[in-house]
Amino acid sequence: MNAIEQLKQEAALKAVEYLKSGMTIGLGTGSTAKYAIEALGQKLSSGGLERISAVPTSEATAELARRAQIPLVELSGSGVDIAIDGMDEITENLDAIKGNGGALTREKIVAARARTFILIGDERKQVQRLGANPVPVEVVPFGWRATLADLVSLGCEAIPRRQDSSAEAPFFISDNGNYILDCQFSRQFSPYAIAAEMLAIPGVVEHGLFLGMAKLAYIATHKGVLELSR
Ligand code: A5P
Repeated sequence: MNAIEQLKQEAALKAVEYLKSGMTIGLGTGSTAKYAIEALGQKLSSGGLERISAVPTSEATAELARRAQIPLVELSGSGVDIAIDGMDEITENLDAIKGNGGALTREKIVAARARTFILIGDERKQVQRLGANPVPVEVVPFGWRATLADLVSLGCEAIPRRQDSSAEAPFFISDNGNYILDCQFSRQFSPYAIAAEMLAIPGVVEHGLFLGMAKLAYIATHKGVLELSR
């Protein structure tokens, strides 16, 4: 395992320490969340945790969880005790950009219903302010060009995500059957204002700004794992 993968795993293991028997857990998506899913599976098989049920935030995560023999349930009205997920960028006050894996809508649905939402990642994800990376926005395919034009009017370049890096590749389709537009801002922006403006555009399903949602974050650095809380 290379050094970055090791850091991802260290952050994930810290979050898994938080889990207790009987909990319902939201399982995030991505290469960092994968380590949390694997560690949870191991704790269940060794008897270190019991009576766990989990809500996956993507089809890929559901597959990983099934392989780790983690019992899966649908999100119920009572939400989840804890959700653990990775991020693309995180600030000191735990505002984040998520969605590079295209699972932002289900991730947000689960995170919003988590009594504790924990973000995990390696030190490359720490930023002073959000926006070096694009903000992924999930949009309904119908009328997507009009939705894109409205997003561009907010001051970003909006690029439809494709299934691979070739310019002719078909558009990426989310687990919900939608497109993802990656919105890159070249200027500083107010995340709260942009989040509200994006959500007000007809055709936008959800955006990857996760503001004021995480209670805890574990950031693995070469000098140890930082715990940030709010
Ligand atoms: C999935 O849609 C994303 O929100 C991921 O959680 C995020 O992109 C972090 O992914 P990695 O852990 O793979 O960097």
